[in-house]
Amino acid sequence: MIRRVQHIGLAVRDLDAAIALYERAFGISPEHRDRSEAEGVEAAMFQVAGVGIELMQPMRDDSPVGKFLERRGEGVHHVAFGVDDVAAAMEDVRAAGLEPLDGEPRPGLHGTRVGFIHPRSAGGVLIELVEADGEGGAT
Ligand code: CO
Repeated sequence: MIRRVQHIGLAVRDLDAAIALYERAFGISPEHRDRSEAEGVEAAMFQVAGVGIELMQPMRDDSPVGKFLERRGEGVHHVAFGVDDVAAAMEDVRAAGLEPLDGEPRPGLHGTRVGFIHPRSAGGVLIELVEADGEGGAT
């Protein structure tokens, strides 16, 4: 059901500074930059050999990423698995006893459809299931 690691989400306090660090230290530049008012997050997506690195800065302290930074500080926030059909994948994980955070797939950043799985049901890891438009989770 999982086709690949689509991206890894990293929480940062200062997105511009983090982008500059990645450009300077690793020689990579973001492919997309996007923000979601609903999620209260601004994010930049880099590509490294087909795997995304998503740097995320909260727009508000009470947003999910804002609360994560408060509790845990900067660091790895989630792992996103690419799937062909996010709705079907969410049914599969629910049947396997995991706890989706979303009842239905919802629009993600960068033109995707996503569903998240609660870390308490998945070994402490926040998992994002992602179906990317025009890309299929499979590529
Ligand atoms: Co993500």
